Amino acid sequence: MQVIRKIDELRRVLEKYRRAGQRIGLVPTMGYFHEGHLSLIDAARKQAEIVVVSLFVNPTQFGPNEDLDRYPRDFERDERLARERHTDILFYPDVAEMYPDSFYTYVITEKLSRVLCGKSRPIHFRGVTTIVAKLFNIVQPDVAVFGRKDAQQAIIIRKMVRDLNFPVRIIVAPIVREADGLAMSSRNRYLTETERQQAPVIFRALQEAADLVKEGERDAIRIKDRIRRKIETAPLAKIEYIEIISPDNLSAVSTIDQKGVFAAVAVWFGKTRLIDNMVLLA
Ligand code: PAF
Repeated sequence: MQVIRKIDELRRVLEKYRRAGQRIGLVPTMGYFHEGHLSLIDAARKQAEIVVVSLFVNPTQFGPNEDLDRYPRDFERDERLARERHTDILFYPDVAEMYPDSFYTYVITEKLSRVLCGKSRPIHFRGVTTIVAKLFNIVQPDVAVFGRKDAQQAIIIRKMVRDLNFPVRIIVAPIVREADGLAMSSRNRYLTETERQQAPVIFRALQEAADLVKEGERDAIRIKDRIRRKIETAPLAKIEYIEIISPDNLSAVSTIDQKGVFAAVAVWFGKTRLIDNMVLLA
């Protein structure tokens, strides 16, 4: 595995592979790898001969009072894990490389970036789409893999790719969960022991919702209510939102009658904001 820190060098190296007819897969990450990230690397490997993992804690997707400074970082551990998973190139630029002094250009996916998480994190998706567009231009991958845990992010990126004609295929890999159901996230490490014990209530609530739909329930209000009541059994949980969402345009639905409709939630445990989602009608 090569660790590359400069855009020019990465381009030079990738050009050789591209000329040799090898397909390039990109896994954009912010590091502090867990099994969820590693499953994205595996998914990329199935589609491409050369797997590039980018590791960059992207400042533009953090709001002024968010956790940019304390976001977990451990380059040595990430490097080892990426190597063990047969990554070919770990792209690890610094902030000045990605955002030189005068940086004025952003990519915004209107509408979709203002709902759900975008309501409380108004600049978040602008930062995500900007850095992902930059990575697409730098790496020019044939495929790029994102995790389903960030369902809104994945849908926004697919839309950006269509709207701006990026010649890249987007793959969305399933959520990887801990044994008790908590969706893996680098931010789980912020949880105190008691918060960590209570956090799997999110998964159980989503599962109850999916079971209700299997039994024939189609009313979004009743399903949201069931999710809310279940999550509220955890004394430390503070719900930010629970929505039943259309996968087409991220709009809230009142009836579950379309394939791919999913429940999406954001819940605070103390200072930690967790998100999760589950498809209700497969
Ligand atoms: O999902 C993430 O970790 C980030 O939002 C991404 C896609 C790497 C962009 O910084």
